[in-house]
Amino acid sequence: MAQPSRTRSRTRSQQWFERAQQSLVEGVNSPSRGAPVYAPSPIALERGHGSRVWDADGNEYIDFMMSFGALIQGHAHPTLVKTVSEAMAEGSHFAAATSAEVEAAERFRQMVPSAEVVRFTNTGSEATMLALRLARAHTGRRKFLKFEGHYHGWYDPYLLNAHSHPPEQLGPVENPARIPDSEGIPPSTFDDVVLSPWNDVAALERVLRQHGRELAAVITEPIMANMGCILPRDGYLQRLRELTRECGAMLILDEVVTGFRYSSGGCQEYYGVQPDISTFGKALGAGFPVGAVAGPRSILERMGWSENMVLHYGTFNGHRLTMKVVAANLDLLSADRTYLKLHAVGDAAIAGLREVFRRRQLKAIVQGFGPMFQIYFTERDTIQDYRDYCKYVDTKLYSRFVHRLLDRGIYMTPSNGLHWIISTAHTDADVQALADAADQACSGLL
Ligand SMILES: Cc1ncc(COP(=O)(O)O)c(C=O)c1O
Repeated sequence: MAQPSRTRSRTRSQQWFERAQQSLVEGVNSPSRGAPVYAPSPIALERGHGSRVWDADGNEYIDFMMSFGALIQGHAHPTLVKTVSEAMAEGSHFAAATSAEVEAAERFRQMVPSAEVVRFTNTGSEATMLALRLARAHTGRRKFLKFEGHYHGWYDPYLLNAHSHPPEQLGPVENPARIPDSEGIPPSTFDDVVLSPWNDVAALERVLRQHGRELAAVITEPIMANMGCILPRDGYLQRLRELTRECGAMLILDEVVTGFRYSSGGCQEYYGVQPDISTFGKALGAGFPVGAVAGPRSILERMGWSENMVLHYGTFNGHRLTMKVVAANLDLLSADRTYLKLHAVGDAAIAGLREVFRRRQLKAIVQGFGPMFQIYFTERDTIQDYRDYCKYVDTKLYSRFVHRLLDRGIYMTPSNGLHWIISTAHTDADVQALADAADQACSGLL
């Protein structure tokens, strides 16, 4: 496939944006897509195929954002197009038992070792919401621990310290400042939340000594994806597993970003950690809205119909079209060498970018491995937690860099808190085009 050319004009995108603002708040459906991030105005994307997207003006881009990681098979994968067309002709959804949901669940269980049973939701946020309700019901405890900088969806109690803030606002590590991410949440909601720094075993031991026996759950992402891509220190997740077991708190592993991305069994398989409950989304649906909660029968069966059940209703749960896509997507992901290829292409992209920054003598690191990574403009050799990110990462320079890439046919969000995504549609040629565009974008960047 030819290299995307330099962007010519974005007149039509701007026209759509002006029109959008008449009827949509900020002209979009999520603040992460609007003008504050894509200043001066968002790019209206109209079409996608494989690794490519086209905007309203006909400009072509190689897409490395991939719907925040949802599009593990790239755009309009032929198998999924066929699956959806055929399923749609038979009826989209019945809100009743279907064979489609059984086939999706069976494949899910084959791939995720900790999934004795699974319950499908419509989004990752619904999955993490349900996971906490299950943990509270199962343990009879109310409090839970969340880590600074982790995002688990937009459910009220999770919306504490999920945004970055100036370092002077963060408070001491032993007693982090509690900063709500949203208006409209009663402060008492956070009475049950214990907040701790992540990736720090000493801090973890301290906080669990103090609060462990009151906690229904500790929720964590295995890789902190909400501040770009921050890997767990060696042994951190394993120690977290031991300590949660000792104090009787459930370990909820939020694999909404990492699930079906690093290996067929997610990061729990990759790092060898057995959660009590895990949550999924994004790559599971290959672009269709879906989430999942998985775990042992003894916990999930609390949702079974009874007077004391953990309630989880939803008109669109197990949506038939989506279930067909999930099953087809998991079949594609189960094919030989899928993950080897995802890792190889991703590692090549990372190596190419590192080489560009070295040659251009720019103080930038590329963190992560294989199918997900992030670029940080920083003097540091590594970014290891939320506080490092808030203190040492030049997010404005990153945004300028990404805008220059957008002008050179690379599609990515200018928000540093997200991450570069490799799908099965990306090729070595795409990775080379990224390195070439990055090289040009570095020239005159500072
Ligand atoms: C780790 C994590 N958990 C949960 C969610 C919420 O998923 P959704 O956006 O599908 O509601 C996200 C979304 O980005 C996430 O990154």
